[in-house]
Amino acid sequence: MKAIAVTPKQANSVRLVEIDKPDLSKIKDGRGVLIEVLRAGACGTDREINNAEYGIAPEGFDFLILGHENFGRVAEVGANVKELQKGDYVVATVRRPGHSFYDDIGEQDFTTDSEYFERGISRLHGYMAEFYAESADFLIKIPPAIESIAVLLEPLSIVEKGLKQASDIQERLKIWRPKTAAVLGTGSVGLLTVMALRLRGYEVHGFGRDKKDGYLNAELCEAIGATYDSTAEISVRDSTEKYGEYDLIFECTGYSPIVFDAMQSLNENGVLILSSVTGGDKTTEVPSDKINQQFVLGNRVMFGTVNANREHFELGVKDLALCEAMYAGWLSRMLTHRVEGLENYEKVFEILNNAGEYKAIKTYFEVNKI
Ligand code: BGC
Repeated sequence: MKAIAVTPKQANSVRLVEIDKPDLSKIKDGRGVLIEVLRAGACGTDREINNAEYGIAPEGFDFLILGHENFGRVAEVGANVKELQKGDYVVATVRRPGHSFYDDIGEQDFTTDSEYFERGISRLHGYMAEFYAESADFLIKIPPAIESIAVLLEPLSIVEKGLKQASDIQERLKIWRPKTAAVLGTGSVGLLTVMALRLRGYEVHGFGRDKKDGYLNAELCEAIGATYDSTAEISVRDSTEKYGEYDLIFECTGYSPIVFDAMQSLNENGVLILSSVTGGDKTTEVPSDKINQQFVLGNRVMFGTVNANREHFELGVKDLALCEAMYAGWLSRMLTHRVEGLENYEKVFEILNNAGEYKAIKTYFEVNKI
């Protein structure tokens, strides 16, 4: 079968490879499921892996099959799989258990291992293939009503984990009634965050680099009652004069200096969520006394978040369905670039590398028809 692979640490090595169809019997306890891939999303992580900035091949291989954003259909189930049957739609989670005790209790997204296992990213093959096999333990069943947008579940799971942790952390306060939120970055993760916060009733302010006029991402913010401002015209910190300080800020720009701007834009008791994986070596100068004092005197919180577990994917399924109910068609507008067939991988990477010119929000392979 066909798959898309890279040679990690070798820039621009993305290519089509021919590999064996996965074998269910290799998955233990009869828990294996064979899945026909219908869609595989592409994102900045795939671009960085192809740029040799990230990514590790599985043991015994000199290539890594890419792909962690996925949506597929069950083709076959093992003897001990009772919760899924042939024809069901599923999305697979990304990280697999390693060795820390968080991994033992199904919270591998909180692993303390420095070597972790992520399908399509680190030490495990991914989903940009015609089929993959996985234990039912790592598959999320998808209701047919959201089949057309379910490829957005994996990026949404990152948002769900961030927001769930924010509310867990805020239990330190006997009462927390957040009203306003800022979302820094309005790419696909940012837009999904704007959506998730609107569903929770926040007044939401989205920020991106691009100017607002004719910018689809800005239009999508406004279509669900959020604002959009370009940081080329107003800094996040100055925006607080317009909107007030934010109770919650979600950072997903990929541009680390903005974090310090965000730290100075948080309300008393507010929470700042960091989700950008910044692989570069940027440095910046900051007013450290002032920032530190504001954090101390205002009981502010900042935390980092990565990956997601089953619980967060399940929360994401509910939000996708609720969003369709409240803002019908909005999520489909995020699916801007569909590329049919794995053999057209060059097109996918051309779009990923020039997302601005293509005005791409989510680019994905249609591997098979739904
Ligand atoms: C993926 C996460 C993963 C992270 C770090 C992101 O693109 O969505 O599942 O944990 O990269 O590798």
